[in-house]
Amino acid sequence: MPSTLIKNGTVVTAERTFAADILIDGEKIRDIASSLPAEQASRIIDATGMLLLPGGIDVHTHLDMPFGGTTSCDDFETGTRAAAFGGTTTLIDFAIQPKGTKMRDALDIWWKKADGRASIDYGLHMIVTDLGEAGLEDMDSLVAEGVASFKLFMAYPGVLMVDDATIFQALGRTAKNGALICMHAENGGVIDVIVRRALAEGKTAPIYHALTRPVTAEAEAVHRAIAMAEIAGAPVYIVHLSSEDALNEVRAARDRGVPVFAETCPQYLLLNIEEMQRPGFESAKYVFTPPLREKHHPPKLWEGLKNDHLQVVSTDHCPFCFADQKSLGKDDFTKIPNGGPGVENRLQLLYHHGVNLGRLSLNRFVELVATTPAKLFGLFPRKGTLAPGSDADIVVWDPNANHTITAKTHHMRVDYSMFEGFTVKGNAKVVMSRGEVLVDDGSYLGRPGRGQFLKRAARGGAWN
Ligand code: URP
Ligand code: ZN
Ligand code: ZN
Repeated sequence: MPSTLIKNGTVVTAERTFAADILIDGEKIRDIASSLPAEQASRIIDATGMLLLPGGIDVHTHLDMPFGGTTSCDDFETGTRAAAFGGTTTLIDFAIQPKGTKMRDALDIWWKKADGRASIDYGLHMIVTDLGEAGLEDMDSLVAEGVASFKLFMAYPGVLMVDDATIFQALGRTAKNGALICMHAENGGVIDVIVRRALAEGKTAPIYHALTRPVTAEAEAVHRAIAMAEIAGAPVYIVHLSSEDALNEVRAARDRGVPVFAETCPQYLLLNIEEMQRPGFESAKYVFTPPLREKHHPPKLWEGLKNDHLQVVSTDHCPFCFADQKSLGKDDFTKIPNGGPGVENRLQLLYHHGVNLGRLSLNRFVELVATTPAKLFGLFPRKGTLAPGSDADIVVWDPNANHTITAKTHHMRVDYSMFEGFTVKGNAKVVMSRGEVLVDDGSYLGRPGRGQFLKRAARGGAWN
């Protein structure tokens, strides 16, 4: 592999912003310093006026996932390619344990989905649906395979939801094996009753997806998840946190010193329940879980990001086409497959609405999209920062590039954008993964199958 010198850029890490060149040797960063000699390199990239960021890490995607009677429409080929265009060079996706089967078998199924398709590096979390007889030992063997995190659902009864006893046992096991439990925190039993009541009253339109999932059902589940983690002596990571009420639970626990971590997603920061008032069936595009909230929630989430009450921004990328997948729920909102697309737009949206609009510092932006995800999920310092010895996953970011987000030009294999028409300033110009240029000024040079499975370490940043 050739050595590459990126010259004249501004390096941004979670701690510092400084002018420097970056020398890449094969797959790794060899040196970061000012005025590195060009003779050392076989290729030079001029980054004058550009920011040099560590490749983004999206720890919450659902590629090729069977869900809601269909399958999410980006697979590992299209999803990782779209991610790369947006400056994300690592994904952590979710394998699902079908009930009554071994988690280890599900891991094989997901490796097969990714094999020959992924163009960026990826890790896997395991969704636990059933602990059964040997489930706890099964968790240990997954940790040994580098699957150092598990997702448990407190929602979707009859599909993915597990009871408190299962959650508590799983948390207890991670207290020993060092994995991190990711919690989908909504009170599924309560929501189910409200949903059945709504349907009985003939309320079938998409907006009832949002109106049947109250914020209190999220806040209560977050509170319960934290309580169970505290009793078990394990850290816990709350996924796709959507409301001020849930955030207050996380903040209160963190203020008490409990190792609780949480992510939110661009849709909860930038959209609100008004999207659900779109005419006809259009609002089905915004049916995901937890749902969009009232207008006063997003500003609180931004404050949470700034003040470290929230630690990560992921996408929960789970795309379903409007034309032939969302339409499954035309006459019944409960049949609309839950999920929305976004893997390509996370950095653009967070940079523009965070950094440009003065809500986040540049360093905090990097921390939220790359460094903390790497630390919490056992990838640091190989990923998530720019330093000698780290993988050369580098984004040459043009802070002055103007871009309009639209399904007409995006690379996700889905027929709409949740952020259609949003204009942003700041975009990825060159995207490198382990020293290879994947995206160069809008051209794709990546290759399906080059992405590697990442064996992640247990006891990541959640135990520090
Ligand atoms: O609606 C969503 N979020 N779909 C993906 C599955 C999940 O709950 O994360
Ligand atoms: Zn979830
Ligand atoms: Zn999800």
